[in-house]
Amino acid sequence: MRVVETITELRTLRNAWPTDNVAFVPTMGALHAGHASLIEMARQIGSKVIVSIFVNPLQFGPKEDFKRYPRPRENDLSLCQELGVDLVFYPKEDELYPNGMEILTVIEPPPSLTLQLCGASRPGHFTGVATVVLKLLNIVQPDFAVFGKKDAQQLAVIQRMVNDLNLPVTILPAPTVRESDGLAMSSRNKYLVSASDRQQARLLHRLLQNVRQLYQQGMETTQEAFALAQEQTLDESLYPDFQLEYLAAVHPETFQPVELLEPDTLILVAAKVGQTRLIDNLALNEAPSATSSGDLHHLLQSG
Ligand code: PAF
Repeated sequence: MRVVETITELRTLRNAWPTDNVAFVPTMGALHAGHASLIEMARQIGSKVIVSIFVNPLQFGPKEDFKRYPRPRENDLSLCQELGVDLVFYPKEDELYPNGMEILTVIEPPPSLTLQLCGASRPGHFTGVATVVLKLLNIVQPDFAVFGKKDAQQLAVIQRMVNDLNLPVTILPAPTVRESDGLAMSSRNKYLVSASDRQQARLLHRLLQNVRQLYQQGMETTQEAFALAQEQTLDESLYPDFQLEYLAAVHPETFQPVELLEPDTLILVAAKVGQTRLIDNLALNEAPSATSSGDLHHLLQSG
C-alpha cells in the first residue's frame, strides 16, 4: 500500500494503473467498521482501491468539532493496509486549499436538498461537502465512489451533483453498519464515553424502528406514527441528556417531506446526546439490520 500527500504523486501512481476499474472511498479518517464495509464494497467492485483521509475544514461550522475531530493516523493506515487498500491519499490542508478557503469556487447544491434537516442546523455544511467531494473526484478520477447510507442527505446531495454535472463516476451507496445494540457506526461515537451516553445514543435507532413497526402495523400518516413512536421511545425522565433535533419522513431522492408513509419513505433522525450530535435513518422497506458489524470487528481490534 502506498500513502501519498500530494496530488501530483497521486495522479502519477493512479495513471500508471492499466485499469478502468478504480474504486474510491473518501473519508475523514477515524475509521471504524462502517468505513471498513465501504472499503470492502470498493474492494469487491474495483480492481484498485483508493481511500482519501482528510478532515475537511470547509464542511465544519465555526462552533463545530473540527479541532477535536479524532485523527488516529497510524490506526487508520494499518486498517487500510489490512483491508487491501492500494493507495491512501492523505493530503494536508494547503494541498487541497492552497489559496485558503476565503476566496474559493464552491459547489452550491440545490437548496431544496440542503436547507432542511442537517442543513438547517449546519449552514454551509453541504456546500463544504459537495466542494471537497468534487475536488477529490477530480483528483482521483475513480470509476466508482462509495458513500455510506448513514449520511443519507449527503448521499442525496452527491448523487445529485454527479447527475447534474455529468461526472463520469458511479456512486455506490453502502448499507449502514450498526453496533449490536443498533447504534449506527460513526466516528463521533468516540465522544460517547459514559454508559448513560451510550444508552441514550441507542434511542435514535429505536425511534426509527418504532416508526417502521407502526407503519408495518398499518399506520399511514407520518404525524400519527411520529407522535406515537416518540411517546413509546423518548421518556424525558429516563433520558435527560437526549435532545431530539428532528424526526422526518422524506422522499429518498428529492428529500421533500411526505405526509403519508410509503415503502420507499426515508425516516431520518438527528439528536444530541449531551454535546454529541448523532444522526441515523432507515427506509421503511429496508430489511431490519441490513448489515452487522460482527465480521468487521476483528479487523478493527487488530488495527
Ligand atoms: O462522509 C464523510 O466522511 C465526509 O463528509 C466526506 C464525504 C469524506 C467529505 O469530506
